[in-house]
Amino acid sequence: MSERIKRLIDKLEENHTLVKEEWVEIFDNYDDSDREYAAEKARAVAVGVFGNKVYIRGIVEFSNVCKNDCYYCGIRCSNSNAQRYRLTDEDILSCCDEGYEYGFRTFVLQSGEDYKEYPASRMAEIIKRIKASHPDCAVTLSLGEMEYDDFKLLKEAGADRYLLRHETATREHYEMLHPKVMSFDHRMQCLSQLMELGYQVGTGMMIGSPFQTSEYLANDMLFLHDFKPHMIGTGPFLPHKDTPFKDKPKGSYELTLFVLSLCRLMLPRVLLPATTALGTINPLGRENGVLAGANVIMPNLSPTAVRKKYMLYDGKICTEDATSECRQCIFARMKRIGYEVEITRGDYKP
Ligand code: 5AD
Ligand code: FES
Repeated sequence: MSERIKRLIDKLEENHTLVKEEWVEIFDNYDDSDREYAAEKARAVAVGVFGNKVYIRGIVEFSNVCKNDCYYCGIRCSNSNAQRYRLTDEDILSCCDEGYEYGFRTFVLQSGEDYKEYPASRMAEIIKRIKASHPDCAVTLSLGEMEYDDFKLLKEAGADRYLLRHETATREHYEMLHPKVMSFDHRMQCLSQLMELGYQVGTGMMIGSPFQTSEYLANDMLFLHDFKPHMIGTGPFLPHKDTPFKDKPKGSYELTLFVLSLCRLMLPRVLLPATTALGTINPLGRENGVLAGANVIMPNLSPTAVRKKYMLYDGKICTEDATSECRQCIFARMKRIGYEVEITRGDYKP
């Protein structure tokens, strides 16, 4: 059986694509040796494209207020135990200034869907101010779903990239993870609009989200192949105690590493973060993510005082730490595995 999976991995490496049945076969039958086989190949591909370098992006989690009620997420609007906070424009700018001192050249502005307080017009002003102080930096937005005119305004204000995970490419699965008012079609529409507007677009899914099957994961891989995002953010599902999914099992660490490797083999140049969730499920998750083909790490630049409040899932790492500590930590962790952090915007290169 395993020889068969290894041949499918070879085929993926060569053709950068598989058909649905082949993806399902992989996810149903892979074992540790197949996973290691894929990781070695994926690491070689990543080293071929990026050398032994990783890019860093600093995330500023500026508001945990969210109008949505996704069943998996700790900052869903129904979670009355979440202590809500919002940073001022000045707070956001000073997080970026501090990040700049530490070598960050990409700032990711991330929040819940909090448009009442942070409409596109306000975000546009913030982007312009960041770009004025740091013209050599990229600004990435992770603000959730918006309308075309908002995306356009933000792009014109200077935003370079947008992260919006598709979460799952299967409609029936999407509807199991989200309340009825959330629309699979609208999310997909946002993703195509972002592409059309010339953003570098990041999307992705959780691994082991409740009800996920090999077939759904196969659909995710097919979607990623067709959509060709510039970045893929993927980490394990981790339950949060104040959500409807509190008793659902966490995703598999090993499967997450395997999916990272398969993404690298499918889209060799894609930007692939070893996510915070991967670092949460295993203390060496981010290192092993890089060794499995990832090339980006996204530490937090948020003020330590609010970090614990941006709890998407239980046990999130780095919530006691300051920017300086995460910076040291990441540089040391990468050095230990023979990689170096590059001080650069780290744009997607076609
Ligand atoms: N476990 C893992 N990832 C989560 N996200 C949200 N909640 C969880 C969770 N419980 C991810 C989603 C979202 C991103 C910001 O965080 O994929 O798009
Ligand atoms: Fe934050 Fe290690 S990256 S403490």
